[in-house]
Amino acid sequence: MSQGDTILVVGGAGYIGSHCLWELRQRGFKTLCYDNLSEGHRAACGETPFIEGSLNDEAKLDKLFAEHSIRAVFHFAAHCYVGESCEDPEKYYFNNVASTLSLLRSMRRANVKRFIFSSTAATFGNPVRDTIDETHPQDPINPYGRTKLMIEHILKDYKEAYGMEHVILRYFNAAGAAEGGVIGEDHEPETHLIPLVLKVALGQRDDIKMFGDDYDTVDGTCVRDYIHILDLADAHIKGLEYLENGGESAAFNLGNGTGYSVKQVIDTVAKVTGKAIKSEAVGRRAGDPAILIADYKRAEKVLGWKPKYGDLETIVKTAWDWSSSHPKGYDDR
Ligand code: UFG
Repeated sequence: MSQGDTILVVGGAGYIGSHCLWELRQRGFKTLCYDNLSEGHRAACGETPFIEGSLNDEAKLDKLFAEHSIRAVFHFAAHCYVGESCEDPEKYYFNNVASTLSLLRSMRRANVKRFIFSSTAATFGNPVRDTIDETHPQDPINPYGRTKLMIEHILKDYKEAYGMEHVILRYFNAAGAAEGGVIGEDHEPETHLIPLVLKVALGQRDDIKMFGDDYDTVDGTCVRDYIHILDLADAHIKGLEYLENGGESAAFNLGNGTGYSVKQVIDTVAKVTGKAIKSEAVGRRAGDPAILIADYKRAEKVLGWKPKYGDLETIVKTAWDWSSSHPKGYDDR
């Protein structure tokens, strides 16, 4: 097995990847970013050395693996919009599945054998119980969730056939930003609830549309488990250390274990920002389960991971520090 010194972060210019790079650097890891900048931002990678390239360019990947001593790969490069995946599934199967296979092939050629994979709660589909642990059936209801589940299966086969070790991390709703407002969430288009409500606070949108207020929940709006981005980054690093200490390849669900409704998120943004937030209930959005909450006991037990930024106010506050100091995001478009 290769004993490299560098963590290759693929998709490190995106929201979650850039925060992982940030946390890796804080802890003294040597990092390298590979990203095609189709959606990410060069500035989000900070001091990490950067290579611009496509995952389909296997020659470029082979060169990267030949020139750098790669210890493990953290893979974040994927499209992630549920709605878009229903309208244009080919884009998702090609980018999320075929491109990941190119990366895995290149890793095999280079004998790099540790892979930390960004998966999603969307692999579970409609929940059949209140909180979702790793034994919950995986039956995704959209192409996005299916692409991530396909890679999960591929990784298990790679482990059996080629001995490539993996940690699969299934995120619930990633939110917040690194403290200090230096990096944050900047998607185009933005579809996620917290950054959209913050745009209302910034005066960039008139109101927030609440997708459905007739769900069987505390106040009729959907409930989600918001997990701070640096808690996700921490889980990636713990996942790597777990594999390096001889841990078996495994999958872990990552959330706070607590749900907040859309209305509670809006109220929290109003409280944190001190701004009035106008909202309007509209029809349900296709594909939205009423409640999604993680059971993260396995990550706690096996990885020694526990969310540190558990409460929603802290999550919103860090996101507000970023968006109020960067109202145009990275401003590189
Ligand atoms: N919502 C609104 N109005 C908006 C945007 C969102 O009411 O303008 C609601 C949604 O209906 C949902 C909640 O806010 O109930 C959260 O929606 P997001 O779009 O922020 O996040 P999702 O729960 O749809 O999806 C996120 C990730 C997916 C991942 C999923 C797993 O974006 O990639 O969490 O739980 F698969």
